[in-house]
Amino acid sequence: MKLWGGMLRAFLSGPGRRGGTWGQAFSSWQPHLPPAGSLKATELVSHWTAVFEKRGIPEARESSEYIVAHVLGAKTFQSLKPVLWTQPLTPWQLQCIQELSSHRLQRMPVQYILGEWDFQGLSLKMAPPVFIPRPETEELVEWVLEEVAQRPRVIGTQGGPLILEVGCGSGAISLSLLSHLPQSQVIAVDKGEAAICLTHENAQRLRLQDRIRIIPLDVTLEGSWAHLLSWGPADLVVSNPPYVFSRDMEQLAPEIRSYEDPAALDGGEEGMDIIAHILALAPRLLKDSGSVFLEVDPRHPELVGSWLQSRPDLSLNLVAVRKDFCGRPRFLHIRRSEAQHGCHADT
Ligand SMILES: C[S@@+](CC[C@H](N)C(=O)[O-])C[C@H]1O[C@@H](n2cnc3c(N)ncnc32)[C@H](O)[C@@H]1O
Repeated sequence: MKLWGGMLRAFLSGPGRRGGTWGQAFSSWQPHLPPAGSLKATELVSHWTAVFEKRGIPEARESSEYIVAHVLGAKTFQSLKPVLWTQPLTPWQLQCIQELSSHRLQRMPVQYILGEWDFQGLSLKMAPPVFIPRPETEELVEWVLEEVAQRPRVIGTQGGPLILEVGCGSGAISLSLLSHLPQSQVIAVDKGEAAICLTHENAQRLRLQDRIRIIPLDVTLEGSWAHLLSWGPADLVVSNPPYVFSRDMEQLAPEIRSYEDPAALDGGEEGMDIIAHILALAPRLLKDSGSVFLEVDPRHPELVGSWLQSRPDLSLNLVAVRKDFCGRPRFLHIRRSEAQHGCHADT
C-alpha cells in the first residue's frame, strides 16, 4: 500500500513536525469549509489534504482518502460507489472524519486511526503500540510460501509444515501463512502482552485459532526454547525481529517513534540482539535441514554471514539473500545442515 511506502521513506528522514492540538487543528480548517449539509466526500478529501499538507503531515492525500473512505464504509476512496463521492455527508459522518483527522494531525499512523489494515489479503485489527505490518514483510511471507511449495517432501512430512514465528506482533506473518497453507500449524511467540492479545483477536476473527498456539515469551530468557517445542521441532522459523540499530532509533519518523513499541524496533547496537538469539536457538528448534527466514536491515546480510561463520557449532548456513521491492537486501534464508544431529547451542 502506498501509505507505507511514503512512511518508510520518512523512516530515516529525520524528525518531522509534530501535529498540534484539537483547538489548533480545527481553527485552521473550519473557515475554509462550505456550509455543513452540502459537504461532499470529494470536498472533504481535498480539504483535509490541504490541511495535512499545510501541517507537514506525510502522505496527505492518501491519509485523507483513507479516513473519508473508512467513515463511508469502504477500504479505499477509489472503491467507494461513485454516488457516495458527491452525496452530502451527514453531521455524524462529518464529526467522525473530523475526529479521525485530528489524530492524523497528531501524527498517528492511519493504520491505528482506522483500527485495521490489510496484509496479504487478510484484514487485521491494528492497535497501538503493536507493530504495524509493513508491505515488504509480505515479500518475506511469499518467499516462505515458495520454499514450502518447492520442498514439499522435506517440509511438513506429517501433513503440513510446523512453523514457529518469533515476534508475532499483530499476527500478520503467522496468520497469512496459516491461511495460505491449510495443512500448516503455527507457534507464534511475542514478549509483548498487547501483541499476544492482538494475535489472539486476529486469529479468532479469521477463524484460524485452532491451528495456532500463541505463547507470551521473551526469547532472550534462558531456557525459553523449551516452551517452543510443545508441538515438536519446527520445519521453519520465521521472524521479522526488531532490527533497527539503536543509534538509528532517534531518526525514525514521528509516526513510528510516538506510537509503535520501541521493543518491536530496537535491535541493539548493530540491530543483531534478537537475530543472534533466534539463530542461537534455531538448532534446538528446527528439524534436520529446517530453515530460518528473517527480515533484516540491508546491513545485516554481511553481519549475519560473519556472525554465522564465528558460530560453526550451530551448523547453520546462509543459503540465500533476497532484495525487497526497493532493491535492498532485506531477507535471509538460513538452513540447518542436514548432517548435524544433537547440536547444542548456547543462548
Ligand atoms: C518488528 S515487530 C514484527 C511484528 C510482526 N511479526 C510483523 O511483521 O508485523 C517485532 C516483534 O518482536 C517482538 N519482540 C521483541 N523482542 C522480543 C523478544 N525478546 N522475545 C519475543 N518477542 C520479541 C516485539 O514485541 C514485536 O512484536
